[in-house]
Amino acid sequence: MASILVAGGAGYIGAHTCLDLFNKGFTPVVYDNLSNGHAEFAKWGPLEVGDIRDRGRLDEVLRKYRPLAIIHFAAAIEVGDSTKDPGFYYENNVAGTINLLRAAQAAGIDKIVFSSTCATYGIPTSIPIDEGHSQSPINPYGRSKLIVEQILRDLDLYQGFRSVILRYFNAAGADPEGRIGEWHSPETHAIPIAIETALGRRPYFQVLGTDYDTRDGSCVRDFVHVLDLAAAHTSAIAHLLNNGGSCALNLGSGHGTTVKELLATVQHVVGRDFEIKQGPRREGDSPALVADNALAERALGWSPRHDLQSIIVTAFNWHSNYLPI
Ligand SMILES: NC(=O)c1ccc[n+]([C@@H]2O[C@H](COP(=O)([O-])OP(=O)(O)OC[C@H]3O[C@@H](n4cnc5c(N)ncnc54)[C@H](O)[C@@H]3O)[C@@H](O)[C@H]2O)c1
Repeated sequence: MASILVAGGAGYIGAHTCLDLFNKGFTPVVYDNLSNGHAEFAKWGPLEVGDIRDRGRLDEVLRKYRPLAIIHFAAAIEVGDSTKDPGFYYENNVAGTINLLRAAQAAGIDKIVFSSTCATYGIPTSIPIDEGHSQSPINPYGRSKLIVEQILRDLDLYQGFRSVILRYFNAAGADPEGRIGEWHSPETHAIPIAIETALGRRPYFQVLGTDYDTRDGSCVRDFVHVLDLAAAHTSAIAHLLNNGGSCALNLGSGHGTTVKELLATVQHVVGRDFEIKQGPRREGDSPALVADNALAERALGWSPRHDLQSIIVTAFNWHSNYLPI
């Protein structure tokens, strides 16, 4: 079977993508330093523990498996953290990616799918956001992703190194069978925190900012099921293997949900109330991020199949029955 190197494949979105790749006939080779991933998530292909900043280790693994292409999830992912230690974000996310790209080129690989983010748009001037919207990230995490996007564009322009840049909005949900799910430590994402609160593992949910210029004062986000994201990656690989050109695509549901609306939906779907407190804004958060996802449909035939209810049901199943705590 054809191998795909999945850098960061022991993490949340990477592991769901490995499952999708496997189901569609590929062998996902996970390359991960396990800084935020889990060895037990590498269930659908070999796990090679290694850091993207380690060129010798990368060369060794690329020689061993000769993958057709790379999917690159490996990154430090916390907006708040990135404002505390920006240097680490540039070292891990930018220098690490340059190292990975150099290793790929040396191994004769010229195709990559890259995990970017809606955080590259910063504070949008229009909603929904399409790919032509200006990119002005407001935190080092978002800037680290935008720099990589720019590097990938140059590699395409001058060397024909092709990339599909996928800008995810808010990933959420889990494998319905509970084999994998969201497992971040510490957890900073709204849906798992709301579910942990509903399960009594946290005393209350704090809404970070209630004075935004939105319909109820809380931030608006676009939640997209991790299974839909996973499917987009396999389609992006197929696109590149079929000689498709480089592109950058938004992956979101196209629907905006405020944090307060989200909490009401979680309480309704799981049938449990929990305490909600109003808190201050978090540095680096954009008031509203909602995707225009039409280009992904045109380029990859992709559209999301799972709604917010399915996101919450599968996440609740994972957190209540499977997440090791
Ligand atoms: N979760 C979201 O909602 C979201 C939204 C937009 C973009 N993204 C991007 O998607 C990607 C995956 O996110 P996730 O939520 O699955 O995060 P995650 O932390 O679960 O996965 C990232 C994986 O990369 C690994 N990693 C980090 N640095 C590494 C290094 N130097 N070498 C090797 N492995 C390394 C970690 O151990 C982890 O397994 C990230 O690039 C993130 O920036 C995520």
